[in-house]
Amino acid sequence: MAEVVIVESDAEAGEIAASAISALVRERPDAVLGLATGSTPLTTWRALAAAGTGLAAVRGFALDEYVGLPPGHPESYRAVITREVVEPLGLTPSLVRVPADDGGPISGAGERYEADIVAAGGIDLQILGIGRTGHIGFNEPGSSLASLTRVKTLAEQTRIDNARFFPSLDDVPTHCITQGLGTILRARHLVLLAFGSAKAAAVAAALEGPVSASTPGSVVQMHPRVTVIVDEAAGAQLEHADYYRYAWANRFDWERWS
Ligand code: GLP
Repeated sequence: MAEVVIVESDAEAGEIAASAISALVRERPDAVLGLATGSTPLTTWRALAAAGTGLAAVRGFALDEYVGLPPGHPESYRAVITREVVEPLGLTPSLVRVPADDGGPISGAGERYEADIVAAGGIDLQILGIGRTGHIGFNEPGSSLASLTRVKTLAEQTRIDNARFFPSLDDVPTHCITQGLGTILRARHLVLLAFGSAKAAAVAAALEGPVSASTPGSVVQMHPRVTVIVDEAAGAQLEHADYYRYAWANRFDWERWS
């Protein structure tokens, strides 16, 4: 089962996630990271920047991208990843990929992205947030548990949630291209973060509910190495919270990554 860590604050969660990334990169300087956008990973990027881990050789693959925004749009995930991850962390821009950024046609972009991930040797550590619909990446409810990178239609709830980044709801794209749930399952270590009470139901459904396409995040239950880091509010509906706390407090030294 997943390793579930319940912490006091998003800052503390960011420290833990950053220490997992630092440990990986110390061992393999050209490790392959799966990069997530959204507000959730920001404390991880901040902690990683503060740790001063050399990331210039790290390769990155973003989870998802909007379809239909003009190139260079500040809310495109290419722009967000550049602004929030590549520049502050000193990653090498040419080593960081975003779906459909290869200049080719959007049809077939998913297959090409999958091939590029495979050619890089696969993703070592995938950072994940979770949406209120239970989505990971942009895999909305109903996504196949075996899906690979492809174009999807955004759920209305997700467009509403993301409208805060755009002048109005009408400006939020209706489509996206996202790594699939099957793509995410291929990563060697999943680190899923969630903060705040708005995520509590999605977190409980993903970790403790049935594995189902109706809760795309529940696919993490099928992965052999998952670390879930939540604050008290996001973990409030977890039935086995006491056990998770006990297991984390009593983990063996060999289970520690820092
Ligand atoms: C967005 C992204 C997801 C992200 C999620 C949560 O739509 N596509 O990758 O995990 O929604 O966003 P936030 O972290 O801002 O709550």
